[in-house]
Amino acid sequence: MVLETIVTSLKGRDNVLTGGSEPVRIRRVRRNDLDAVIRINELTLPEHYPRWFWEDHLEKWGEAFFVAEVGNTIVGYVMPRVEYGLGVVVQGIVKRGHIISIAVLPGYRRRGIGRLLMEHAMKALREIYGCREVYLEVRVSNTPAIRLYEKLGFRKVRVIPAYYLDGEDAYLMARPLEET
Ligand code: COA
Repeated sequence: MVLETIVTSLKGRDNVLTGGSEPVRIRRVRRNDLDAVIRINELTLPEHYPRWFWEDHLEKWGEAFFVAEVGNTIVGYVMPRVEYGLGVVVQGIVKRGHIISIAVLPGYRRRGIGRLLMEHAMKALREIYGCREVYLEVRVSNTPAIRLYEKLGFRKVRVIPAYYLDGEDAYLMARPLEET
């Protein structure tokens, strides 16, 4: 029910994108999407997780876990979690949304899908889970993702040295969720 509200409220702002050859739909993940989601993750990112990790996120924070679908094909996803702790950009002990993973298949990029996935996740994190901010880690070399996050109002808070297994640094990026 709450999800319907989100989808309806975003509809006017192109919940269904028609800029490419086929429309793209953003909807909440379902258990039987997980194989496709994991495949996209393995194709597009060096950071992989065991299946139980994806299932755990779906079970606990599934209302903020979205996929992008073209026809019957999943072409992208965003998987957040909710944490409770010291705010990164908001003062005090708060509920924080943490974007664990986001990816769009190469053939579907630069159509606004990544932005739309993030907007849906942020709205759900705020309205359903009561998060006051959202944060993530991103490789310092990942210009496309950094640009996307900056466009969405994230700012670089600090560098986390050697955050990734191969030794690359990460930017910690965050934004408040009050005015999403
Ligand atoms: N170069 C520069 N800016 C880029 C970019 C690129 N290759 N890709 C996205 N952006 C920025 C642009 O400002 C873009 O707006 P514009 O197209 O109007 O200029 C904005 O982000 C929104 O892009 P969008 O089309 O919504 O993003 P996307 O659907 O292509 O998905 C990623 C972006 C990052 C999710 C996608 O590139 C991806 O899956 N990358 C591999 C996985 C990954 O790195 N995930 C992030 C881990 S932290």
